[in-house]
Amino acid sequence: MPVTIARPRSLRGEIIAPGDKSVSHRAIVFNALSNTGTARITNFSPGADCTSTVEIMRALGVEITRESGGPGIGDSLTVKGVGLDGLQEPADILDAGNSGTTTRLMSGVLAGRGILTILTGDDSLKSRPMGRVVVPLSLMGAHISGRSGNTLAPLVFHGGSLKAINYAMPVASAQLKSCLLLAGLRAEGVTSLTQPAESRDHTERMLSAMGVKLTKSGLDLAVEPTELDTVDVEVPGDISSAAFWMVAGICHPDAELLIKNVGVNPTRAGVITALQQMGANLSLINEREVAGEPVADVVAKTSELNAIELSGDIVPLLIDEIPVIAVAAAMANGTTVVRDAAELRVKESDRIQATVTWLKGAGIDAQGTDDGMIITGGGSIGGGQFQSYDDHRLAMSLGVAGLLSDEPITILDPDVAGISYPGFWRTIEELGGSVG
Ligand code: S3P
Repeated sequence: MPVTIARPRSLRGEIIAPGDKSVSHRAIVFNALSNTGTARITNFSPGADCTSTVEIMRALGVEITRESGGPGIGDSLTVKGVGLDGLQEPADILDAGNSGTTTRLMSGVLAGRGILTILTGDDSLKSRPMGRVVVPLSLMGAHISGRSGNTLAPLVFHGGSLKAINYAMPVASAQLKSCLLLAGLRAEGVTSLTQPAESRDHTERMLSAMGVKLTKSGLDLAVEPTELDTVDVEVPGDISSAAFWMVAGICHPDAELLIKNVGVNPTRAGVITALQQMGANLSLINEREVAGEPVADVVAKTSELNAIELSGDIVPLLIDEIPVIAVAAAMANGTTVVRDAAELRVKESDRIQATVTWLKGAGIDAQGTDDGMIITGGGSIGGGQFQSYDDHRLAMSLGVAGLLSDEPITILDPDVAGISYPGFWRTIEELGGSVG
């Protein structure tokens, strides 16, 4: 059912960011492969994507328990490791739903095993590029087939034995990096990777905490086959979810929001840097470390924003936040230019096209380019009815726009927010954005 959001007179309150999606996937997958017992994971992401990972691991014979934590608390899970070679052949096709992270991480786990597995997902997932994992895994000796010349899911993993490779990654992708590091754990020899730029490093942090022999030198990584120790994980809040409230807080004319428990790992925190460069009144308080990840509370207050240029190495560090940064750009003075972000075209939707389409519909001067977009802000956003193209981050960016726009904004397909943030619309309502 569509929802309509209208701008509240003021925007004040405290929000607890839900558990991080990237860390949650990794906590399940890596602990399932450990051979030292049972791990406990708390503040697990409530989104559907991470549930896809849980269900796939269960289908492969891993025992996982899950207890609901209630709103704002996050679920608690236990995972009993089966060891690197303990996964069982599933009785059916594995369904990753909408989750690219599940598909690419699991490709590294399923490649070169003595069991037959087939991995698929929804229409969006089946259109996303999988050649980027199939090519290097095949070089390692895996036998994988897929649609469209082995570039699209469903992917079929037949077996083969893995040997290490030295691989120059063609894209700065944490999903690809993680896939190859996972495959490297079971390959003969030392697998080494060169990244074109830094991307989120949760995999490196967690595998190192589990005793994996993993070295890093600049953009180069090397991993040796190692057995994994179990690690308990308290998942930090998701900065990608917190980013919606940061933008709402800095753009609303009368706002002060406290966003608690936000993971601020430097390889994820590009959104804070970019918004601060725009002039945002964003401050980090109560900085601490939780399960090897930096965490802080973030205060976002009404700000006067100016346009920026976003390009180069910062792009992978804020790639998921560009749809909501575009909302800030629409409210800023001047012309914001985003470059080097062609990856946006192959996310859950073509996020360049989807973002530019709704911005134009709301009266903003916006245009897409091959690898980014150009947005001229005017300090206001018009209203209207928009669709998110089944993309959770688009739906929530539209929700933030509704908290700021002169006329109400209707989102025709809001439920997709549940992919990463099922409580999003409830929080909008609590903040006074009428949800009709
Ligand atoms: C993710 C990595 C990013 C990001 C995705 C989650 C991860 O994708 O867009 O939402 O958990 O590794 P790429 O690494 O492919 O850019």
